[in-house]
Amino acid sequence: MIAAEDGQTAQRAAARTPARTPFVVGLTGGIGSGKTTVADLFAARGAHIVDTDAIAHELTAPGGAAIDAIRARFGAGALRADGGLDRDAMRARAFDDPQARAALESILHPLIRAESQRRISVADGPYVMHVVPLLVESGARAGRFDRVLVVDCPVSVQVARVQRRSGLSAERIESILAAQASREQRLAAADDVIDNGGDAAALAAQVDALHRRYAAAR
Ligand SMILES: Nc1ncnc2c1ncn2[C@@H]1O[C@H](COP(=O)(O)OP(=O)(O)OP(=O)(O)O)[C@@H](O)[C@H]1O
Ligand SMILES: [Mg+2]
Repeated sequence: MIAAEDGQTAQRAAARTPARTPFVVGLTGGIGSGKTTVADLFAARGAHIVDTDAIAHELTAPGGAAIDAIRARFGAGALRADGGLDRDAMRARAFDDPQARAALESILHPLIRAESQRRISVADGPYVMHVVPLLVESGARAGRFDRVLVVDCPVSVQVARVQRRSGLSAERIESILAAQASREQRLAAADDVIDNGGDAAALAAQVDALHRRYAAAR
């Protein structure tokens, strides 16, 4: 029964080979390193962007998929009058209380992950640029990314850019930096690095070169 054998062979091959998924680049970097700027440049060249921060905002907006669980765990006081997550209140609470922080993460992370996967599975374009600010911190690389791309710049440049953008104090920025992976840890996890210590032209040239490689990867 040649046909049956062929069918079994095909089934075994299918079990070994996961369904074809798009080529996924995990884009990360420290606060203010330039992740959003870089993602926008890749998007302008045709990459499909899946942005973890954007998904987290949608999940915690009024009527978002995380809201019921947040209300059940933290009470209505964690929500704004419009029903969305009160980000400032929750940030302050999570900063002071590691248990609250862990509880919020245990609500959000599985939802973020599922929604990211869903968006990746329906992505068009030559490859997916998955922006994951805490990629290195979460230690969740395994099997999720074909390449890890780190946006890198000196810490002093990071601090200056965040300060210019947000007006946060240098002290506050230092405390955020201290809670993130170090520059060295991030670089150690990188397959590819974009040096964003320079100007816009230098950035565009690096993005062009990587875009060509990623677009040809699969
Ligand atoms: N090469 C550059 N030269 C000058 N300014 C830059 C450069 N790259 C980014 N910036 C500016 O620095 C700030 C931070 O950049 P961006 O928002 O892209 O970083 P991010 O990593 O996404 O930050 P966050 O961690 O807050 O999401 C922005 O105001 C951006 O316009
Ligand atoms: Mg950003």
